[in-house]
Amino acid sequence: MRQMWVWMLLMALAFVNDRSHCCLDEERISLLEIKAWFNHAGAPGSYYLDGWGKEHFNCCNWDWVVCDNTTNRLIELDLSYVNYDGLNAVEDLDLNASLFLPFKELEILDLSANQLVGGLKNQGFQLLVSRLRQFEELDLSDNKFNDSILSSLSGFSTLKSLDLSSNMFIGSTGLNGLRKLETLYLDSTDFMESILIGSLGTLPSLKTLHASDSNFKHFGKGQ
Ligand SMILES: *[C@@H]1O[C@H](CO)[C@@H](O)[C@H](O)[C@H]1NC(C)=O
Ligand SMILES: *[C@@H]1O[C@H](CO)[C@@H](O)[C@H](O)[C@H]1NC(C)=O
Ligand SMILES: *[C@@H]1O[C@H](CO)[C@@H](O)[C@H](O)[C@H]1NC(C)=O
Repeated sequence: MRQMWVWMLLMALAFVNDRSHCCLDEERISLLEIKAWFNHAGAPGSYYLDGWGKEHFNCCNWDWVVCDNTTNRLIELDLSYVNYDGLNAVEDLDLNASLFLPFKELEILDLSANQLVGGLKNQGFQLLVSRLRQFEELDLSDNKFNDSILSSLSGFSTLKSLDLSSNMFIGSTGLNGLRKLETLYLDSTDFMESILIGSLGTLPSLKTLHASDSNFKHFGKGQ
């Protein structure tokens, strides 16, 4: 009988220990919703997320996820190339930023190459501005965002690096409020208007602008 108790105690301790290294329920649930969002859209790379929810209860061990090892909260999420097929066209995907609301300590988010468009009504990046207080890197490259999303990025005052390359921006809207932004990527952009480039002078921390393969030949037309 005593052995039985010792065994049960050990099991309980193992369980508590396991739980203490776990990701938060709300973060795990959101990851599963993100997986369902891609699956529902028929995203060709959905299989990258197949392991999510299957192997471990602890989402900090899942692929493409990094957690802080003291708070066990998600700090990095790489969702690049999920809605992507190297050979064939894929359906546009509407951004639903609500899916990212629980990730309060998120520092790095990669959404590149997902054929993303602006976002459902009231589901844009502005939703995340007051939530992601430690947000440092956002990669939106290789999507189909247009100038209408730029104003929704303005509140990200902690952001240090922003990649907007290879989208449908034409430069008709400025970037403001990104006080900590050091590096901006605007590669492969066909600038028809100069407002976006003109606004960069108001970003106090900007050190590096990448704009290779971009086209500026329309600048100053009609002036
Ligand atoms: C926590 O992670 C950092 C880097 O992410 C690493 O340098 C450090 O050793 C880790 N600490 C523990 C206790 O695992
Ligand atoms: C966006 O995601 C949230 C959170 O999962 C969900 O409640 C909402 O229904 C989604 N919106 C749409 C239009 O799919
Ligand atoms: C920009 O994208 C949004 C969302 O997809 C769309 O509703 C809007 O018509 C686009 N604007 C332009 C000028 O293409």
